[in-house]
Amino acid sequence: MRRLIGCLFLFLMLAGSFSLPAQKKQETPAAIKPGEIWPDTDGKHINAHGGGILFHKGTYYWFGEHKTAGRGGNSTLFGVGSYSSKDLTSWKNEGIVLKVEQQDTTSEIIKGCVIERPKVVYNAKTKKFVMWFHLELKGKGYEAARTGVATSDSPTGPFTYLKSYRPNAGVWPINVPVSLKEKQVDETNLKWWTPEWTKEVQDGLFIRRDFAQGQMARDMTVFVDDDGKAYHIHSSEENLTLHISELSDDYLSFTGKWSVLAPAGHNEAPAICKRNGKYYMITSGCTGWDPNAARSFVAESIMGPWKALGNPCVGEGANLTFESQSTYLLPVQGKKDAFIFMADRWHPKNPIDGRYVWLPLQFEDDKPVLKWQDSWDLSVFDQKAKEKKASTRKDKAALR
Ligand code: DGJ
Repeated sequence: MRRLIGCLFLFLMLAGSFSLPAQKKQETPAAIKPGEIWPDTDGKHINAHGGGILFHKGTYYWFGEHKTAGRGGNSTLFGVGSYSSKDLTSWKNEGIVLKVEQQDTTSEIIKGCVIERPKVVYNAKTKKFVMWFHLELKGKGYEAARTGVATSDSPTGPFTYLKSYRPNAGVWPINVPVSLKEKQVDETNLKWWTPEWTKEVQDGLFIRRDFAQGQMARDMTVFVDDDGKAYHIHSSEENLTLHISELSDDYLSFTGKWSVLAPAGHNEAPAICKRNGKYYMITSGCTGWDPNAARSFVAESIMGPWKALGNPCVGEGANLTFESQSTYLLPVQGKKDAFIFMADRWHPKNPIDGRYVWLPLQFEDDKPVLKWQDSWDLSVFDQKAKEKKASTRKDKAALR
């Protein structure tokens, strides 16, 4: 009997060692489940909202708003959170990498301020990690409309806060006629949202208003182009117009070269990627924490002109971006033209419970397309590549 049990034990051990669980794991990437709780490696729901992702030396770093529980959870009590991952599905909490001040009430980032949509880029010249974010000063609602910057020597921080801006003070955009700089407008009977008012916004009404002190900067992202130049893209002019501003070589300030995108178009939540030499942007409308229909744009040059391509979402839920709002377009490393649309499903009553809606960004006739999926994994990008190869082969054969 003893012998029999021994043999059985040996058999089970051998069977176990031949089942190759590790190998299987590598072949099938883990699933991404949009809108569900996403546990980190400690089993806690990821807390990095309105975020962006930096890929550096083989690791992805996800930076985002660290929210707290309950109604007040949108104001920043701790700072910017970060997670790291090798595979985009399993995320390790790296803690708060930009801490807000707990004591010094003169600091612009005192506990209770609002830090939104942090984005980190790496500057190869200075070897610094540069974090930009939308900053609202404590107790001032959303009126400050500033953009803040912090740096670190390491992607996992600590980041040191440097300063905040209302960008482009005293500089006119490159794509609005300079003649409009001196335009005088009688605003007494000019009502918001009328066609006359829209025309005035397009003609620089708010750019002139904020010319001396700098332009408003709310929802934002940062994009580094192939030539290493970086651009800061933000909702400005009372969230009516997007501004695209070139950053200095060290990525810490504005060069003064900037352009407007969709004047009076009321866009928030800009997210951008580059594919086949063209720039694609996905934005949202402006309805606070409530979702609305996404918009998309394409341009040959980052400074424009940008062409509107309409709502990239299709299918059920498309008119509300599947109950989410864009935050970042993430290039998947090692896969050509593979981008993930990252978005937030906000829960303003309990912000810490906000969910992440990640979907593969597809292109149909050179237009970005987003389709809802309950569950998907990174192998979709390999399938797409295979399909593309097969259809090119077919086209070539048909020509012969
Ligand atoms: C929508 C923005 O996209 C969010 O980042 C946040 O600022 C909310 N508005 C605040 O209502």
